[in-house]
Amino acid sequence: MSTLRAGTHDMGVELITAISPHDLAELCEATNAAIIDGGGFGWVQSQDRAALARHFRGVLLVPDRTLFIARLDGIVVGSAQLVRPPRNNEAQAFAAQVTHAYIAPYARGFGLARQLIRRVEEHAAGIGLRVLNLDVRETQESAIALFEGLGYIRWGTHPAYARVDGRTVAGHFYHKLLEPGRGRSTDSLIGLR
Ligand SMILES: CC(C)(COP(=O)(O)OP(=O)(O)OC[C@H]1O[C@@H](n2cnc3c(N)ncnc32)[C@H](O)[C@@H]1OP(=O)(O)O)[C@@H](O)C(=O)NCCC(=O)NCCS
Repeated sequence: MSTLRAGTHDMGVELITAISPHDLAELCEATNAAIIDGGGFGWVQSQDRAALARHFRGVLLVPDRTLFIARLDGIVVGSAQLVRPPRNNEAQAFAAQVTHAYIAPYARGFGLARQLIRRVEEHAAGIGLRVLNLDVRETQESAIALFEGLGYIRWGTHPAYARVDGRTVAGHFYHKLLEPGRGRSTDSLIGLR
């Protein structure tokens, strides 16, 4: 686990492969608080704990998904998922998707999301991935500032990206190149920069 101290708070991010009932309850509460506040998880309506618990237990079972949780003073307050392409998608095996990234409203503004995404990037680079992709609703201004501040490049906007409360919302698509720190540089391998 990576830990930082922000003022009087301890902040940490962990990659998890199993979860205790206590942490799962906190994770579900944080997720539902983010959903009620307006998103970051695909779900638009508040979800009961059983549905969220099923989701996270399922995520832990899927080999192509990696779950990261963020803690503030020991309490689980957010998470993010790294989704690698299925094994048959050899052509895109160098890239993965960052999805379902959020911090509960009661734990925002401490720098935890930045720590969470950096940890995801560090892990992705460590397993040899060269590109991270993500997408975000155009209304999620904090997330847009977060990802652009971390160097994600917007390459397109989908005008009919999501439907929220009866309205169509556009979404922005981003990518970021990673340097695994060994082997050929991403620059020479991909040849984009
Ligand atoms: C986006 C989100 C994850 C940020 O969480 P957070 O822990 O408060 O963010 P941090 O404290 O780490 O802030 C990091 C950067 O994000 C941006 N940011 C965070 N909150 C912001 C706000 N209210 N307004 C503008 N920018 C903001 C800033 O660039 C900030 O850097 P700075 O503090 O140097 O200005 C959180 O607001 C959230 O969960 N939102 C809803 C879900 C969502 O949009 N998820 C992304 C789609 S998958």
